[in-house]
Amino acid sequence: MLGVIGGSGLTQLETLQITHKQVVRTPYGEPSGALVFGHIAGKEMVFIARHGHGHTIPPHLVNYRANLWALHDLGVKDVVSIATVGGIHESLFPGALVVPDQIIDYTWGRKSTYADEVTEHPVKHIDFTEPYSSNLRDLCMRALHDSGETFVDGGVYATTQGPRLETAAEINRLERDGATIVGMTAMPEAALAREIDLHYAAICVVANHAAGRASSQHGIRYQDIDSVLADAMVRVRKVLAQLVAIHGS
Ligand code: HPA
Repeated sequence: MLGVIGGSGLTQLETLQITHKQVVRTPYGEPSGALVFGHIAGKEMVFIARHGHGHTIPPHLVNYRANLWALHDLGVKDVVSIATVGGIHESLFPGALVVPDQIIDYTWGRKSTYADEVTEHPVKHIDFTEPYSSNLRDLCMRALHDSGETFVDGGVYATTQGPRLETAAEINRLERDGATIVGMTAMPEAALAREIDLHYAAICVVANHAAGRASSQHGIRYQDIDSVLADAMVRVRKVLAQLVAIHGS
């Protein structure tokens, strides 16, 4: 069964025929909300809204550990994240879709590991050279292609702490570091998924040019983001339906 974590602009999936919802408790506390089970084209999937169903949980307060643990507990092996980002590279215009292949983590103070206490077991250091699962990335790109979408294969996702957006100078620094997109949720989500052996990939929706770039040269307007996301999420829902259809086949 495929697990989908929906981000800003995607708190529900209209294409999903809901069968039931389940409130799950985990040793790490409560997930962002009930897990929503359903099927698309006869195939089962489970959905969770990262920021809660009313989008009330800011990125630094999301219980990433509980969200992933709950999915893992239900037997999910593959998790696809839908995340909105700013485009650092000018070619990444609002509405563009990116399947990133790398991450740089600028977050701090988040609960970023399941190994946060001393135990009698030796510490396990996960390999994180490739933070996204290659097979699941390929599947996402197949679904995008089958849905007639153009998309960017590969990108370096800079994860900032938020919830504020960045300064223009910070975006320049991220670009010098090699980042092409900027968002607030890839970490610790990707690393936690790896710790518990979940395959993890992301489809990122560019909501705006990053601070100081192109149309955001003099600021980022929230009204613009909302209309870009409303449009883009219609496309993303179709891609997800296709992804569920081809998953496991
Ligand atoms: N920066 C960080 N996170 C974001 C942005 C941005 O410009 N747009 C959407 N999420």
